[in-house]
Amino acid sequence: MRAPLPTPLVTVEVADTLRRGVPAVLVAFPGDPVRFGPGAERVDDLDVAEVSGKAGATSRPGRTWVVGVGEGSAGDWRKAGASLVRALHGDAEKAGGTTFDVLLPGDVTADAVAAFTLGAAVGGYRFKVTGEEPPKRVKSLRLVTDPAFAEVVRKANTLAAATSLSRDLANTPSNVKDPSWLAAAAARAARGVPGLQVDIRDEKWLAEQGFGGVLAVGGGSSRPPRFIELTWPGTEAGQPHLVLVGKGITFDTGGISIKPADGMHLMRTDMSGGAAVVAALIGIARQSLPVRVTGLVPAAENHVSGSAYRPGDVITQYGGITTEVTNTDAEGRLVLADALAYAVHNLNPDVVVDVATLTGAMKVSLGVRTGGFFATDDALASRVTRAGTAAGESWWRMPLLEDLAEDVQSDIADVRQCPPGPGGITAALFLREFVGKIPWAHLDIAGPARSDKVYDEVVAGATGFAARTLIELAETCTQPSADTIG
Ligand code: BES
Ligand code: MN
Ligand code: ZN
Repeated sequence: MRAPLPTPLVTVEVADTLRRGVPAVLVAFPGDPVRFGPGAERVDDLDVAEVSGKAGATSRPGRTWVVGVGEGSAGDWRKAGASLVRALHGDAEKAGGTTFDVLLPGDVTADAVAAFTLGAAVGGYRFKVTGEEPPKRVKSLRLVTDPAFAEVVRKANTLAAATSLSRDLANTPSNVKDPSWLAAAAARAARGVPGLQVDIRDEKWLAEQGFGGVLAVGGGSSRPPRFIELTWPGTEAGQPHLVLVGKGITFDTGGISIKPADGMHLMRTDMSGGAAVVAALIGIARQSLPVRVTGLVPAAENHVSGSAYRPGDVITQYGGITTEVTNTDAEGRLVLADALAYAVHNLNPDVVVDVATLTGAMKVSLGVRTGGFFATDDALASRVTRAGTAAGESWWRMPLLEDLAEDVQSDIADVRQCPPGPGGITAALFLREFVGKIPWAHLDIAGPARSDKVYDEVVAGATGFAARTLIELAETCTQPSADTIG
């Protein structure tokens, strides 16, 4: 079976004229549906009374589609783009055409255009492995608006491509997706991106280098672990160095501390953090951002077998810290600990950010639409939140509670893998042991990495959450200000 990678994205471009004979779309506000852009007067079959204007409400009163943008917030515009494309997919299938012209209001802002583009590009995403001929879908939207918006549209397409690639990687089923598949898929996606380098290390290299966490977690599977390193050198020497680390568990059975059958199948998305890092590196390199960025993805399958690691084992992580394993289902922090230590020992980073579907506890705390994060530095924390807002992803800062810090100490090793207590927080405190003094943030996306529902620009399945935030975060490193990094 071949997974259909990459899933085609709806492309959005800027155009200066509305073409005759091409299906058109108008954008409407509630109570003011006539605030359409120049050229709307040519659309003569519109019954204004039928237009709601509510964000994301689509209708086709005549031959022309209308989509509402509500109050016009960025979220409204994203939602409008997404629901429009979902509605148009049906039209494309009925042979109504695959390119649509969208007439934007004359006073539209750059932020609105960006949000609309993003929503349109990712909102109609669909992952399906099938032997059948796929249905006809919308291919592109032409936004009839000021040509000066071409640049924001280009960036929004890049952000959308990152979300879509992370969704593809995370949605791919784990009979196809093992660590070596993930590494090859990352290399394939990065191919042709100027300046972006990919290094893939195998289990032999991991053993030589002492990646005890990755090897323990991956040891129960017949499909050996890999370590993926992506390097974007920046545009010149001396730029700040951001290291991104993503959990790459290609399937999480829980290992000997096995998970219940209910819901285990969802653990094919347990490499969503790694997918976000791969996709972010590609997005950063494609935009040629003036910041040095390294992406690290420790990839392993957490499986059960005679060679699986056990609760009670003591392992030696990269760099020499020893860990007392107490639950083989808390595998994410073990592979991340190796990668964080590798970054600190070898890459001289100015800031380190990891992202992982790490704890069910975080999903309980914040639900499935908000990522939880921890940071050792207040300026970095506010940059994560701001990057999320710019990306249309919401984050909530969680505390690194010092009164729990001693719980990650062990009697029989340097650190204890999973002490009792609030699970998201103790996991973060465990990881902190491996980052030394470098400004660090830990993003736990166990909740928002997957969705059961379609909402806003999100569709059911892997959401690609965090890829866009990481790109926006890299962008904040390029801005010269007192709190640039850390
Ligand atoms: N991959 C899971 C966390 C997870 C749970 C992600 C639900 C997405 C949805 C992680 O490896 C895990 O199993 N964590 C355990 C840790 C526990 C054993 C300390 C958990 O959260 O239950
Ligand atoms: Mn687990
Ligand atoms: Zn896991």
